[in-house]
Amino acid sequence: MALAPRASAVPNDLESYWMPFTSNRAFKKAPRLIARAKDMHYVTSDGRKVLDATAGLWCCNAGHGREEIVSAIKRQAEELDYAPAFQFGHPYAFELASRVAALAPGDLDHVFFCNSGSEAVDTALKIALAYHNIRGEGARTRLIGRERGYHGVGFGGISVGGIVTNRKFFGTLLAGVDHLPATYNREQQAFTKGEPDWGAHLADELERVVALHDASTIAAVIVEPMAGSTGVLPPPKGYLQRLRAICDKHRLLLIFDEVITGFGRLGHSFAAERYGIVPDLITFAKGITSGTVPMGGVIVRAPIYEAFMRGPEHVVELFHGYTYSAHPLACAAALAALDLYRDEELFARAKRLEPLWADAAMGLKGLPNVLDIRTLGLTAGIDLAARPDAPGKRAYDAMVKAFGDENMVIRVTGDTIALTPPLIVGEGEIADMFERVARVIKAVA
Ligand SMILES: Cc1ncc(COP(=O)(O)O)c(C=O)c1O
Repeated sequence: MALAPRASAVPNDLESYWMPFTSNRAFKKAPRLIARAKDMHYVTSDGRKVLDATAGLWCCNAGHGREEIVSAIKRQAEELDYAPAFQFGHPYAFELASRVAALAPGDLDHVFFCNSGSEAVDTALKIALAYHNIRGEGARTRLIGRERGYHGVGFGGISVGGIVTNRKFFGTLLAGVDHLPATYNREQQAFTKGEPDWGAHLADELERVVALHDASTIAAVIVEPMAGSTGVLPPPKGYLQRLRAICDKHRLLLIFDEVITGFGRLGHSFAAERYGIVPDLITFAKGITSGTVPMGGVIVRAPIYEAFMRGPEHVVELFHGYTYSAHPLACAAALAALDLYRDEELFARAKRLEPLWADAAMGLKGLPNVLDIRTLGLTAGIDLAARPDAPGKRAYDAMVKAFGDENMVIRVTGDTIALTPPLIVGEGEIADMFERVARVIKAVA
């Protein structure tokens, strides 16, 4: 039964809310308000049915308003709203940790919970630093990220991240951070489906960074297996394997930031599985609860956890945690989401749809201003030529038109359109989605 809208206590003029990563003034002049959602669709506040081509923000992998998740959250709120996260626990936290560990490859078998991807990244970086410290290698303090990397908005994440606008306003960031080059090269890779052939050698840049700083000063390397937020940049064939080998050689911890790539986006539980690599730490968020309740976390390999488990037993082993680590509502939502992923075989479904998805995306080639199209799993990045003197405006216009004229939510970053539907997307919906995108691209030509 649909609930009656809640009455506002004060007149709502949209002004008070400072929206994140949003052009606030433009939005408040012409708001895009979403009121409800079910499966592949939103319903706007004025009653329009809108196709979700981005799984929320790459998070609602099981689709929206799934009954199983909704009732698990309701049940949990009645049964246990909260239990202290420090020195106490609740059963579902342990169950969920085991379930997540079972999905991760190799000996990635311990899970630390937090509430977002940004917190997951900061947690992983802190675990890496502390791990070396407690083993008597405290000089290993450097962190290596990558240009065009996105690791959230905490100070750790923006420091290892490689997006200039996310960094330049915020001071000196973390000291002792270096960056690998981005793996994207349009001349060599344009219009590739899946992993491009060119670019594995870029992993060797890590050797150059090691030679400059010396391995004894480097704690960890963090990369997204597929850079998502800067426009879907699939890893070149062999690149991640080479990065793993170089990290092994110099005993650097390798962190895969799987906040986007985890939970089926690339047709596997984690990208690590797709590429047959065991990183030392995996960060996750988003898909763990199918976007329904905030949750993030870090999966670590057994020897990392074990290294901390020493000293007097009453002493805290890792001085880190959040009030809402493994919040009961998030755990309930996550367990229900994992059940849905398993029962509906959604990761395998993403894998099965990948070729059809890639073909549909490549169908946009040749439309006005389309400079490149990249696909991986159920993701696609479509680069548009920037309008002269107004970088980002063409894609922004595309987002506005998609919502207003085509009843569809798309995500844009710079002049790139990113599409990442819920994994329940139907074959007909894929065709329909790209037809709508084609009309939008023509409309902003
Ligand atoms: C790879 C990656 N890491 C971290 C984050 C940050 O996650 P959150 O927005 O939940 O803090 C994101 C968000 O898109 C992401 O894509």
